[in-house]
Amino acid sequence: MFYVAVHHPDKCQKCGVCSRSVSCPGEEEAVCYGCGACALICPHEALEMVEEKRKGKVSLKVNGEKVWVPERITVEAALKEISRRLPLIPEEQSVFAPCGVGACWACAVEVDGVIKPACNVGVREGMKVKTKLPEDYVPVRIVGGFTGFIPGEQSGPYVDGVRFAPYPEVCCYLAGCDFRCPQCQSWEISFKGIGNLFTPAHAAKRLTKEKEMRRAESITLSISGGECTLNRPWLIQFIKELKDLNPGPQVHILVATNGSLLTDSYVDELYQAGMTDIVIGLKALHLENFMHVTGLRDRDLAEKYCRTAWDAVRYIDTEYKDKITLGVGFPYNKALNDVDEVKAMGEAIHSIDPAIVVDLQNYTPEFRAKFLLAPDDEVAMVHRTLKDIGLEVVIYKTDDGRIVGY
Ligand code: FES
Repeated sequence: MFYVAVHHPDKCQKCGVCSRSVSCPGEEEAVCYGCGACALICPHEALEMVEEKRKGKVSLKVNGEKVWVPERITVEAALKEISRRLPLIPEEQSVFAPCGVGACWACAVEVDGVIKPACNVGVREGMKVKTKLPEDYVPVRIVGGFTGFIPGEQSGPYVDGVRFAPYPEVCCYLAGCDFRCPQCQSWEISFKGIGNLFTPAHAAKRLTKEKEMRRAESITLSISGGECTLNRPWLIQFIKELKDLNPGPQVHILVATNGSLLTDSYVDELYQAGMTDIVIGLKALHLENFMHVTGLRDRDLAEKYCRTAWDAVRYIDTEYKDKITLGVGFPYNKALNDVDEVKAMGEAIHSIDPAIVVDLQNYTPEFRAKFLLAPDDEVAMVHRTLKDIGLEVVIYKTDDGRIVGY
């Protein structure tokens, strides 16, 4: 099944995000390769991916073997077409393409001697593709930005289960995400395909510089997104570089993730690299709600992502209790996730460990979810519901932007 982007002028608000933030593989030739990046980022849903048959074929050489694939498709689609597996979850010996917008570079392949993201390059006649990268390849990905926060401005870090960290936080936002949340609160980073490519070493130096500007003895270096875990070799190397540049216990390294890819071995690797804190944004407990909140349409994939995130919470709580500070995020907005679902999530966390810090995230109207209601006092009621379950620490942001909790 192949697609082409169709523009709906009646919905288009001419905001320009599709030209500002999308890397279009067919821009020069004015040809649509059906990658879908423009449709993913458009907040007004003015671009729609519509099924279209391809009549012509082009020949490629994939790992030295000549193959014929439909014209006007991406290298990612071509690799799927010839059954070089491109799963949405990482597997050994396969290219993995989770973001689909050319941001995370987890899908990097060699195209005519140059490393490029397979999801964001169109096939051309005679193209040579190698799925095995050179031994000396250094991973890259787009970084959406760096910033800093004063203590209490962000919900993390949270130390020792009873108080906010009294020190600041600097954060690095990695572009690309494997979720399609209609209410994404950072959508211009999550679906952004244009930006500076950073190696792990380059990004670590940049975040460390941000830290040094704060002149604080204790500080948290946060890695967020988008979804920071998409490109595993990049993230592991980044954390190692951060640790090398910032040794000592006064510097915390926090990973903020949706948990969709956090297998046990990934958690082990993050810890060994130097991660000290983690916040896992659990979107829901039940599959229907999870699909509603994440915008994922593929039931099997959504089920896998949801289960992996919850399993990661259990694994970290069991295996890394005194080694990694663990928090979880619950999305709350009465137009998004009802109180019964949030309560069920709270009960599930309580059964794992009532001491796990819960960050109740009251989403604001954003991206495509203009239907969300602005935060109101109801979040305080949901907070009380979670406390009544017996959860020890539940925090949330008030209307005036303060983080409160106990
Ligand atoms: S999946 Fe291709 S860059 Fe992320």
